[in-house]
Amino acid sequence: MKVTFKVNGKSHTVDIDAGEFLLETLRKLGYKSVKHGCDTASCGACSVQLDGNPVLSCRTFTAAVDGHEIKTVEAFSNNEGLSDIQLALLKEGAVQCGFCVPGLVVTADALLRENPNPTEEDVKEYLNGNLCRCTGYESQTRAIVKLAKERRSGGE
Ligand code: FES
Ligand code: FES
Repeated sequence: MKVTFKVNGKSHTVDIDAGEFLLETLRKLGYKSVKHGCDTASCGACSVQLDGNPVLSCRTFTAAVDGHEIKTVEAFSNNEGLSDIQLALLKEGAVQCGFCVPGLVVTADALLRENPNPTEEDVKEYLNGNLCRCTGYESQTRAIVKLAKERRSGGE
């Protein structure tokens, strides 16, 4: 079957198997930031945004995104540099092996749109599906709360 959807603003029409998951389709299209972690909806490494909301691409049928918009972490940087979320994570030492970071960034972006003034508890709750084996979460949480504060004050 054929489906058409946008990834980071670019339209793709692809031939897929009916039971194909979005993770597989995105990686075939070259969006290798989308990580194949647990494959059991447990780790969040495969998170992408579907029409602005975080979803697990390992459990989202590609057929279900026909006509919709996907955003991956590739959309968060360009030749000018990294997004403020990525920079905030780097500044707080919240990136070690980096495997969880693409999923973390797209989920944190959705959180900050929904709640521009999150507490540490809000961040932990929203990101509780994004597992990280390296950082212990404190630096990630601190980075997101600090960034929210900086955005509310209009910059640095
Ligand atoms: S690979 Fe999808 S949640 Fe782990
Ligand atoms: S930085 Fe290694 S899993 Fe999160």
